[in-house]
Amino acid sequence: MHFGQISRVPGDPILGLMELYNSDPNPAKIDLGVGVYKDSQGLTPIPRAVKLAEQRLVDSEQTKSYIGGHGDPQFGAQLLRLVLGGRSIALSEHRAGCTQTPGGTGALRLAGEFIAKCLPGRGIWLSEPTWPIHETLFAAARLPVNHYPYVGADNRLDVDGMLAVLQQVPRGDVVLLHACCHNPTGFDLSQDDWLRVLDVVRTRELLPLFDFAYQGFGDGLEEDAWAVRLFAETLPEMLITSSCSKNFGLYRERTGALLAITANTERLLDVRSQLASLARNLWSTPPAHGAAVVAAILADDPLRQIWQDEVERMRQRIASLRRGLVEALTPYGLDRRFAHIARQRGMFSYTGLSAEQVRRLRAEDAVYLLETGRANVAGLDAERLDQLAQAIARVVQG
Ligand SMILES: Cc1ncc(COP(=O)(O)O)c(C=O)c1O
Repeated sequence: MHFGQISRVPGDPILGLMELYNSDPNPAKIDLGVGVYKDSQGLTPIPRAVKLAEQRLVDSEQTKSYIGGHGDPQFGAQLLRLVLGGRSIALSEHRAGCTQTPGGTGALRLAGEFIAKCLPGRGIWLSEPTWPIHETLFAAARLPVNHYPYVGADNRLDVDGMLAVLQQVPRGDVVLLHACCHNPTGFDLSQDDWLRVLDVVRTRELLPLFDFAYQGFGDGLEEDAWAVRLFAETLPEMLITSSCSKNFGLYRERTGALLAITANTERLLDVRSQLASLARNLWSTPPAHGAAVVAAILADDPLRQIWQDEVERMRQRIASLRRGLVEALTPYGLDRRFAHIARQRGMFSYTGLSAEQVRRLRAEDAVYLLETGRANVAGLDAERLDQLAQAIARVVQG
C-alpha cells in the first residue's frame, strides 16, 4: 500500500466554518466568516466592467496559446501604474517590473521562492496576527518565519511594539507589510506610523514585501497605495504582491502579480530572469483570462470609470456597515466598546469578541465568525444590524 501511512490534516478553519454555515437550516443565520465581498443581497457579483470586458474578449481573442512567463505585458504595464501611480520614479527609470501570477497567493509563493533561492539565509517577519496562509506559505517556501507584534491583548494597534521588534531584526531580513486593510484585524497604520516603519526599514536595511490584496477597499484606490508609493519613492528595492481577486471580483480567475523594484534596469533584468525561472517550476505560465480582463478595463477610459465607480460603491458599503453596526450597538451602551469597528479598514474586523463569545453567537444566534473574533464586515446586511447588535449585546453582557 502506498497511501496507508498518510495522516489526515485538519481542513482550513475558514472553509470549515463556511460548511457549518451552509448546513445551518436557520433562515436568520448571518455569515461573517469567509473573506469575500458580499452585496446587500448576500451575493458576490461579477462587476459590470468585468462582464463588459469579457464580452469584448470573446469577440476579439485570437488564440489560447501560452502567454509568456511574466504574463500579459499589457496587464503588467497597467497594474504597475495602478499600484505605483502614473508619476512613479521607479517606473520612469525602468526599474519596476511585473510578473503575473495565479492570484495574490501565487505572487506571495513566488516571492517566498525568490527569497529562499536568491537571498539565502534571510528570515521573513510577519505581523502577529496575520493572514494564516502567510504562515504556512512562507514555511512551505523554506523561509525562517518570525513575527512582530501588531495588535495587543487589548485589541489595539501596537505600533510601538511593532517598531521595537523591527529594530532588532537582523539586517537584510524581509518584513511583510499589509499595504492597507490589514487581514485579519482591519487595523491600519496611520501615515505617521508608516513614516516610522519606513525609518526602521531603511536604517536596518530590511527588504519590504508589501501584500496589497485590497486596493480600493480602504480609503480609495489612490489613497490605499499611499504607503506602497512612499516606500517605492524612498527605497531602491522592494517587492509588492498585488491581487485582483477582491477589487475586480475575479476571485476564481486567479489574477495577481509580483512587482519588483530594483536599484537599476540591469538588476531588474537579473531579478526578472530568476522570477521567470522560478515560476516555470511552479505553474509554468500564468492563467490568461483574468489578466486580459484587467488589462482591458484599465486601458479603456469608459470601462475604467465603470470599474472605479463599482470599487467605490463596494468600499462605501463596507464603511457604512461599519458605522451602522456601531450605531446599532449604541442602545446597548456598547458603542464606545466597539468604536474601533468604524475606524478599522477593509473587509475584516478584529471585533474583540472572545472565542467563547463567538461560540455562543454561533450556537444561540446562528452568527458565524472566526473564533479569533475576526468578522467579515462585508457579510453584514444593513437590514439586520439590529439583530446582530442584540446578539452581541447578549453574549457580551449576559
Ligand atoms: C492578506 C491577503 N493576501 C493575499 C490574499 C490572496 O488573494 P488571492 O490569492 O485570492 O488573490 C488574500 C486573500 O484573501 C489576503 O487576504
